[in-house]
Amino acid sequence: MSERIQAPRGTFDVLGDDALARDALVEAARRVLEPAGYGRIETPTFEATALFARGVGESTDVVQKEMYTFDAGESESLTLRPEGTAPVCRAYLEHGMHKLPQPVKLWYLSSFFRRERPQKGRFRQFWQIGVEAIGSDDPAVDAEAILLLAEILEAAGVQARLRISSLGMPLNRLRYRDKLQQYLRDNAARLSPDVVARIELNPLRAFDSDDPGTRTVMAGAPRLLDALDREDAEHFAAVLGLLDAADLPYDVDTTLVRGLDYYTRTVCEFTSSDLGAQSGVGGGGRYDGLIEQIGGPPTPGMGWAAGVERILLAGSLARTAAPPLDLFVAYAKPELRAAAFRLAADARRAGHAARLELAGRSLKGQLKQADRAGARYVAILDDEGTSLKDMETGAQQQVETGTVMHHIAQGTL
Ligand code: HAM
Repeated sequence: MSERIQAPRGTFDVLGDDALARDALVEAARRVLEPAGYGRIETPTFEATALFARGVGESTDVVQKEMYTFDAGESESLTLRPEGTAPVCRAYLEHGMHKLPQPVKLWYLSSFFRRERPQKGRFRQFWQIGVEAIGSDDPAVDAEAILLLAEILEAAGVQARLRISSLGMPLNRLRYRDKLQQYLRDNAARLSPDVVARIELNPLRAFDSDDPGTRTVMAGAPRLLDALDREDAEHFAAVLGLLDAADLPYDVDTTLVRGLDYYTRTVCEFTSSDLGAQSGVGGGGRYDGLIEQIGGPPTPGMGWAAGVERILLAGSLARTAAPPLDLFVAYAKPELRAAAFRLAADARRAGHAARLELAGRSLKGQLKQADRAGARYVAILDDEGTSLKDMETGAQQQVETGTVMHHIAQGTL
């Protein structure tokens, strides 16, 4: 035998109960998002590499180390999407969605790809449910989107804490960045080498470090939230006021750092202690500069994405049961297969859940199989004609093949 080929590291197959739980989650998300005006969008699995380099940011881990990039010939470089915000913004521009009433609200359920070290809750291909609301900088857009994620998490039985902060607009952030860089340089001796190496490129990531020395230094570092200008501070206060109005609890967390560069103003993350190291169930924020970064006019946007696997790990979503089976069609000998096939197909066309014996079992084996599958009725085709068995009462009688559907529908046997 030749060597067995396995699924690539960091990937998984979705089977059985897990598949049912995913369906239940997607249904729960749809029930929350669509009444709030979010329409479904699906974008391609791969995009021009430049979209992520410019959109997500050259200095991010995602772009520097985690992208699956390939040469597609004709000097075109493509990348399996590591996230959904830049692609949705690209689609917004490409389809002239600025002409629609703003904000345009879109949601997606898609798989994403990041070459990360696999561990519990961290995969190389994973799924996200996400939303993007593009075209308005109203704080109510932020608050509404966050509230919808809270509702989905609640429906999925996830206990999560909402952390929220504001990064302000880029100019303000630049001023703050200078201040922080100066502080980091002054304290470089007490920082871990990787934080020191990133002082110029991405000083904010220092807040993310696990290194004890760095953590002590960062506890005294200047905070972005204290450096916001008036408009940004007012925007943030309005978002918090709306969350209060909706009774959604949150912690303002000045250390909140997101791994993607496009954020402006509001950033948020839901974390769950049931997840171990990968505690982020979902997160997002406002990205008022992203569309300009990818070649469009200045256009504000806000969104979030939540990891499907992490929600299922942390949550307690009731599995939707497989639909009940109305009819199992059994037949006594191969010559009756076509008639049995026809009966099962007719029953499905009439709207019943119907299955046919497909593995050449003996009649006894077929009845056992029908029982295992939870069939309500079994039609048995043999030389005498068709008989119908009620699996609940055990009653069985000879019927005209053409009346099987009538008996099932009426429950008359
Ligand atoms: P993100 O924080 O990179 O944001 O990912 C969002 C969520 O996806 C995380 O909270 C986590 O649940 C899940 N996730 C991320 N990486 C992995 C992985 N390797 N394995 C399993 N789950 C993972 C974004 O992607 C932004 N596009 C969110 C956003 C939308 N911001 C604005 N709009």
